Amino acid sequence: MNMMNNNPVGIFDSGVGGLTVAQAIRQLLPNENLIYFGDTAHLPYGDKSRETIISYASKITRFLIGQKCKVIVVACNTASANAYEAIQEEAGNRAVVVDVINPVVTYVATKTEYKNIGIIGTKATINSGTYEKKIKALNPQIAVSSLATPMFVPMIEEGFIYDDISNAIIRSYLSKPELQDIDGLILGCTHYPIIKNQISKFYSFELDVIDSSAIVANYLRALLSEKKLLSTETNSNYKFIVSDYTEYFQVITKLFFEEDIRLEKKNLW
Ligand code: DGL
Repeated sequence: MNMMNNNPVGIFDSGVGGLTVAQAIRQLLPNENLIYFGDTAHLPYGDKSRETIISYASKITRFLIGQKCKVIVVACNTASANAYEAIQEEAGNRAVVVDVINPVVTYVATKTEYKNIGIIGTKATINSGTYEKKIKALNPQIAVSSLATPMFVPMIEEGFIYDDISNAIIRSYLSKPELQDIDGLILGCTHYPIIKNQISKFYSFELDVIDSSAIVANYLRALLSEKKLLSTETNSNYKFIVSDYTEYFQVITKLFFEEDIRLEKKNLW
């Protein structure tokens, strides 16, 4: 038992999409205390420059470390793709950093069935080339095809799910030449698990659609166990903080997290 065991797991995203990762962590690790931070004052990150994403992510990391988080989960692909090294540097030896890209890359690169993997995500995630570089570094045999699908985040947040509009947008993106002949598709954005089923349906449920939340939660459990940092809490505590509060953010949490939660506002800026 380590003194830090019952310290919280810090989780952050540009907004509420990262709650899909928080949900998977809660399911797998119910004893962990969680502090979630959604930077709703600055979303979306997907259209921002690398410097700006780094500056927001570094500030949030400092905040979560101030809250004594033992580990920081970057539940945002855009921040993971553009600011992982900066976040690690900021955390130093005070907290372990888990992003949403490295665990998925390891999962994909070590599976022999993938010859051509597709990735969809925000513009800043796809333009960074991070997935491609990391997959190629582990397994140069895998061909990687990427496509930015920026309409998905506003579409999901506005509730266009399982209807004609979302079907048309999904069909239009997934029919592009970049995504033909793939044998797996990585959902490279923490909002996308909400439309995973609809995406699978487009492929007649014959393509492996890879959702990072469960992979990241499993990775986190193995890491905490290896570092002897698993919580012994029997009555775990969850805190959900946003940098800007509106009723809208409160309402859409229901899309991403199974239980009713109350957002608290704390502007770090
Ligand atoms: N949740 C962010 C991600 O995973 C997308 C939303 C945004 O653009 O801020 O990339």
